[in-house]
Amino acid sequence: MKFKRSHHCNELREGQIGEEVVLSGWVHSRRDLGGVIFIDVRDRKGRTQTVFDPSDLPKELYETASSLHSESVISVKGKVRRRPDGTDNLKIETGRVEIVVVEMEVLNRADVIPFQIDDPEAAAKVHEEHRLKYRYLDLRRPEMLRNLQIRSKAATTTRVFMSEQEFLEIETPTLFKSTPEGAREFLVPSRIHPGKFYALPQSPQQYKQILMVAGVDKYFQMARCYRDEDLRADRQPEFTQIDIEMSFIDREDIYSLIESLLKRIWKETRNLDIPTPFLRLSYEEALNRYGSDKPDTRFDMEIVDFTEEFKTSQFKVFSGAVKKGGVVKALNAKGFACVTQGQLETLTKLAISCGAKGLAFIKVEDGNWKSPIVKFFSDEEKAALTEKLGIEEGDLILFAAGEWLSSCEILGAIRNKASEILQSQGKLTIPNDQFNFLWVIEFPLLAFDKEMNRWYSSHHPFTAPVEEDVHNLIDNPKEVRGQHYDVVVNGVELGGGSIRIHQPDLQRTVFEKVLQLSEEIVKERFSYMLEAFRYGCPPHGGIALGFDRMIAVLCGTGSIRDVIAFPKTAKGTDLMTDAPAEVEPRQLRDLHVQVNVADKE
Ligand code: AMO
Ligand code: AMP
Repeated sequence: MKFKRSHHCNELREGQIGEEVVLSGWVHSRRDLGGVIFIDVRDRKGRTQTVFDPSDLPKELYETASSLHSESVISVKGKVRRRPDGTDNLKIETGRVEIVVVEMEVLNRADVIPFQIDDPEAAAKVHEEHRLKYRYLDLRRPEMLRNLQIRSKAATTTRVFMSEQEFLEIETPTLFKSTPEGAREFLVPSRIHPGKFYALPQSPQQYKQILMVAGVDKYFQMARCYRDEDLRADRQPEFTQIDIEMSFIDREDIYSLIESLLKRIWKETRNLDIPTPFLRLSYEEALNRYGSDKPDTRFDMEIVDFTEEFKTSQFKVFSGAVKKGGVVKALNAKGFACVTQGQLETLTKLAISCGAKGLAFIKVEDGNWKSPIVKFFSDEEKAALTEKLGIEEGDLILFAAGEWLSSCEILGAIRNKASEILQSQGKLTIPNDQFNFLWVIEFPLLAFDKEMNRWYSSHHPFTAPVEEDVHNLIDNPKEVRGQHYDVVVNGVELGGGSIRIHQPDLQRTVFEKVLQLSEEIVKERFSYMLEAFRYGCPPHGGIALGFDRMIAVLCGTGSIRDVIAFPKTAKGTDLMTDAPAEVEPRQLRDLHVQVNVADKE
C-alpha cells in the first residue's frame, strides 16, 4: 500500500475543506459525467464522493479510473472541497464535500460482480441462495453490516451486564457425549477409540448444572449449540445461546435478571425503553386466548370459548365435539369479511395441516351472516356469538371444534395468518418498534407421546416439578406443573429455562418411573450427574436465550439467517464453502467409519 488512510469514508465534513486526505475502500459506484468521473468510495463506516477531472490528471490515472469495475478496492489521495451548489447529497453523511483526486492506487481490481449490491431494492430481489454463495458480497450491504453491528453490540452488552452481576463466563466442551432425548445430534467419530463417538452439545445443560455443584454460583456463556433438526427461518443447525445458571434462587430471580438484561440490550442497541416487569401468562391462558405458547400480543383477535353455548347445538360438528369431551372456540378477524375465496382456502388448508377437519366460518356482510352453517344455529347461539365476539358488519368469524389443545393451536395458527394478511392489506398496523415481552409459565411438566405410548418432558428431564404437584408424579403425571418458564416477544420464543431438580432421588424417579428410561440407560447417560448430586448439590435453575432469534427481532427481520454471518441453508449446507462434503477414504479409515453408499442422495 502506497498510502495510509487518513479518514474513514463517513468522516469528512466542511471543516476539512482544503485538507489533503487519503481514503481506502471499495468502488461503490462510478459515474462518467461529460468526461469527469465520480467514484463513491465506501468502507464499513460510510461513503464519500471522489472526483477524477481529466484536465488535472495524468492520462494514465484517468484511464485507470474510467476502467474500474464496481467493488474494486482502491486508495485515493486528494483535497477535500465543497461540492458545487446544487450537487449536495444529503442522503450520505459526507454529502456536502468531495475529494479532488490527485493520486490513486488500485489495490484489487474486481471482476463484474454477480449481483448488484449498491441498491437495497435490487438486493432484496436477489435469490437468497445466490446471496449465500457470495456471502462476502452480501455482507457488504449496509443492511447486513448493520445487523452484524447490532449483534456485536448485543454480545458486548450481555458480557458487561453479566459481569456487573458477578456471573463467571465459563466455556464448556463442544465435544460431548450423546444424550439422544432431545433433537437429533451431530456425531464426531473418535480416532483413538474405535467405534466410539462424541456428540456436539444441543446445549450446555448438563455441564452448567455440574458447575453449580462445583460451587460456581453464577455462570453464563455465549454458548454454541448444535441440533440436527429440520430447519426453518428461526432454526439453524448451529446457533448461539446466552446460557445462564444460578444457585440458591427461585423463578422470580430469573424473571428479574432476564428483564433487566433485555432492558439493557434494547436500550444499548435500539435506544428503546422496554417496560418491565413483563406480563405473565400461564400456559393454559396463553393457549385459551391466543392459541399458542408463544403468543403475539401486539394485536387482539383473541380466541373465545363457546363450549357451553354449543353443547346441545343442532350443528352436530360442534355439539358432537363437546360430547366427546372437546371444545368449541372461535375468533373474530375484525374487518376481514372481504376475505377472498383463495384466502379462505389458504386458511382452511392451514387449519387442516394443524389437524382440523375443516374451518367453519361466518362472513358478516350487507347486514347478513354469510355462512354454510348458520342455518343450524339457534337465536340464543347467535346472540352469544354476537355478544362475546363483538360481531359487527365487515367481520369474519372462524371456528374450531374438537380436542382442547388442537382446537386452540388451530385457531392460534389462523390468528397469526389472518393478522399477516390483514397487515399486508394495510388493515392492521403494528409499529416497527413495538416489542411485547411476556413470560409463559405453569407449563405441564410432561406431555404424552401417543406413538411411543409414554410421557416425555415438555422442557427437559432436569426440570423440577412445582412442589405441591410432586405427589402426582407417578399416578397422575398429567396434572404435574413444571417450574419451567419461556420468555416470548412478538410471537417469538426467545428463551426458556427452569428451576432444576437437585435431589438425586427425585431425579432418578423422573428418569426411571416417569420417563420409563431403563436402569442401564440412566446409568450410562446420567450416572455422573446423579453421582454429583450426592456430593453437595445446591438448589439451582437457569435459562437460555436464543441469541440469533433475539438479534433477528432487534433487527426487525423474520429470518435468523440475516443475522448470522455464515448461515446454513434450509438443507443444512454452506453454499459458499460447499460443506458438508465428502472426505478422503484414508480419513474414514482412520476414524473407523464406513460409509453406506446406498444411503447417499
Ligand atoms: P431450549 O431448547 O428451549 O432450552 O433452547 C433455548 C432457546 O434457544 C433457541 N433455539 C434455537 N435458535 C436457533 N436455532 C435453533 N435450532 C434453536 N433451538 C433453540 C430458542 C430457545 O428458546 N438447556 C435449555 C435451557 C435451560 O433450561 O436453561 C435449552 O437449551 O430461542
Ligand atoms: P361438515 O358438516 O363436515 O360439512 O362441516 C361443516 C363446516 O364445518 C365446514 O365448513 C367444515 O369446514 C367445518 N368443520 C368441520 N369440522 C370442523 C371442526 N372440527 N372445527 C371447525 N370447523 C369444522
